[in-house]
Amino acid sequence: NAAEMLIGVGSSVPETFLTNHDLEKLVDTNDEWIVTRTGIRKRHVLGKGETLSQHGITSAKRALEMAGISAQELDLVLFCTSSPDDLFGCACQVQAGIGASRAVAFDLTAACSGFVVGLVTAAQYIRAGTYRNVLVLGGDALSRFIDWRDRGTCILFGDGCGAVVVSANPDPAAPGALLGHDMGSDGAGRKHLYCDFTGADLKPLSEGAAPSSHASYGNLHMAGQEVFKFAVRTVPTVIDNALARANMQKEEVDWLVMHQANQRILDAAAQRLGLPSERVVSNLAQYGNTSAASIPLALDEAVREGRIRAGDKLAMAGFGAGLTWAGAIVRW
Ligand code: ACO
Repeated sequence: NAAEMLIGVGSSVPETFLTNHDLEKLVDTNDEWIVTRTGIRKRHVLGKGETLSQHGITSAKRALEMAGISAQELDLVLFCTSSPDDLFGCACQVQAGIGASRAVAFDLTAACSGFVVGLVTAAQYIRAGTYRNVLVLGGDALSRFIDWRDRGTCILFGDGCGAVVVSANPDPAAPGALLGHDMGSDGAGRKHLYCDFTGADLKPLSEGAAPSSHASYGNLHMAGQEVFKFAVRTVPTVIDNALARANMQKEEVDWLVMHQANQRILDAAAQRLGLPSERVVSNLAQYGNTSAASIPLALDEAVREGRIRAGDKLAMAGFGAGLTWAGAIVRW
């Protein structure tokens, strides 16, 4: 069976954005605190009537164009998200929007680890010989669930989407693009980061049939320090494990392309890998934490700017709600 290769990447973010100064008007915070504690300067958020699927479609078209394949050649559309437009997911809307009529489409939920989990999933289908062309999207619109009075979370998150095309290498002897990976979960840590379904105003059926018109999810809750500690503990380990499975030394890594949550977490991971800051892809300042979108967004920018080149080896790591984590060493 063939090994996988990455042949295209694309991304899309809403035009509307909020600067740190905009947030100063909403909560007791200031630009200096946000920049020094997180590295974030602004974040894009969906405008009225705008959907995540629209950004999925735009990202997909850009990735397919770079890949040089048509939407009809896709076998699978995998949308990694925790905040779909529709309870039943975004993937089918993207499939219809780009005209990937042959493809099966479904969503995958693993919070900020979603994109790496999606990439690993795509590689398994290709290695098994089940599919040849897979579109993996990572997108989130967590602005929908933010309590804009909570300064501990509203400063962090932004909306956006990114996509990659993963295809079977026509050369059967070629090595894969996913050189090694490691993933994990810890449901006991859910208490530190969650967004619960709230059916509080739903009447039980025993009290008579009523429409469930107010069924929804509540606000995102996060114990920032706990998640921070979890991230700086987990990311180096998951990258070490992925390197070991790739049979590689950390000196062989060209770029760190990890989940963009906090500049201090990026710096800690880079230091551990011995990578200088110019080898760390960071776009937090512009977008904040875009959850499952952050890795493909960062990858897309670095590839289009000509920084990441064919053959470069990337260390990727996602971590977040669940709790979940996933690391991968990937050849671009
Ligand atoms: N502006 C000003 N002050 C603030 C703000 C704010 N926006 N937010 C908190 N503070 C205050 C706190 O109240 C506290 O004040 P006190 O000392 O008087 O009690 C002080 O600043 C320090 O607060 P900490 O929470 O200790 O600040 P910390 O340095 O940990 O930074 C942050 C907070 C940025 C949230 C950090 O903990 C972090 O980045 N955590 C990780 C979050 C993350 O990575 N999430 C990823 C997963 S997301 C997902 O999966 C969906």
